[in-house]
Amino acid sequence: MQFIDKVVWITGASSGIGEALAYQFAHQGAKLIISARREEELQRVKQNIKSECLIITLDITDSTSLATAVQTAINHYQKIDILVNNAGISQRSLVVDTQEIVDRKIMEINYFGTINLTKKILPYMIAHGSGQIAVVSSIVGAVGFPLRSAYAASKHALHGFFETLQLELKPENNIFITIICPGRIKTNISYNALNYDGSAYQKMDEGQEKGMNADICAQKILAAIYRKKREVYIGSFDILLIYFKRYLPTLFYWIASRVKPT
Ligand SMILES: NC(=O)c1ccc[n+]([C@@H]2O[C@H](COP(=O)([O-])OP(=O)(O)OC[C@H]3O[C@@H](n4cnc5c(N)ncnc54)[C@H](OP(=O)(O)O)[C@@H]3O)[C@@H](O)[C@H]2O)c1
Repeated sequence: MQFIDKVVWITGASSGIGEALAYQFAHQGAKLIISARREEELQRVKQNIKSECLIITLDITDSTSLATAVQTAINHYQKIDILVNNAGISQRSLVVDTQEIVDRKIMEINYFGTINLTKKILPYMIAHGSGQIAVVSSIVGAVGFPLRSAYAASKHALHGFFETLQLELKPENNIFITIICPGRIKTNISYNALNYDGSAYQKMDEGQEKGMNADICAQKILAAIYRKKREVYIGSFDILLIYFKRYLPTLFYWIASRVKPT
């Protein structure tokens, strides 16, 4: 019971990695807040959880409703120990085709939504004298990848923001940042990914289908949060791309331009 009585807020908890995280945290004794847009899916997740679980339905891009959501959470639990910024959306389109609306929508959800919620919760953590903020980035938060220009940009932006936040926090704040970079995980992410015109891709990619199981990914995320790791890479061979880019950049460009992106 590593997270006993910790109040953990998970965004994007209506499916995939977020749903798996909700079950793992509940299993480890946490009190939960689960958020996403689809209320009925959150209800379904809640039914599988025995411990305390508050549903706060929200659209992460709606800045005004985020303020109300934070107030609801604080009124209910009086504190938030761990925020897991997990809500996100991907992309399947070439730069040359992608319409501006898609670039903006992905940045709104993955970047602005995430930092807005974080900035609203941060003052409560500072006042409380402790906290932990995890953000689910991606391997493409560290490298570029075909058909993912806006998605990779949004995840790279999260690294800049959260690394800076960690540097600004003082030891007495007792607040830790964990940046999580999964490779391909088997979830509905490719179904929900955006095409060049903003329509949903609605396919299970072959690469996604062969990805890591979401429960295993969630276990590794909990371990990283428990150990207060600054950054963690979760996946199989795909995480090698990060090391190739760092130490063998020519090899990285050779592989990443040839690997099947779907
Ligand atoms: N699967 C992978 O291979 C992979 C790899 C690296 C990183 N990631 C990251 O992992 C995170 C979770 O993705 P997943 O793979 O679990 O995909 P998923 O099954 O599609 O889950 C995405 C979650 O984000 C929520 N969401 C989307 N737009 C939202 C909005 N505007 N407001 C609030 N919630 C919103 C969705 O809920 P509603 O639709 O109900 O709002 C859903 O719960 C994402 O940040 C993704 O970038 C995934």
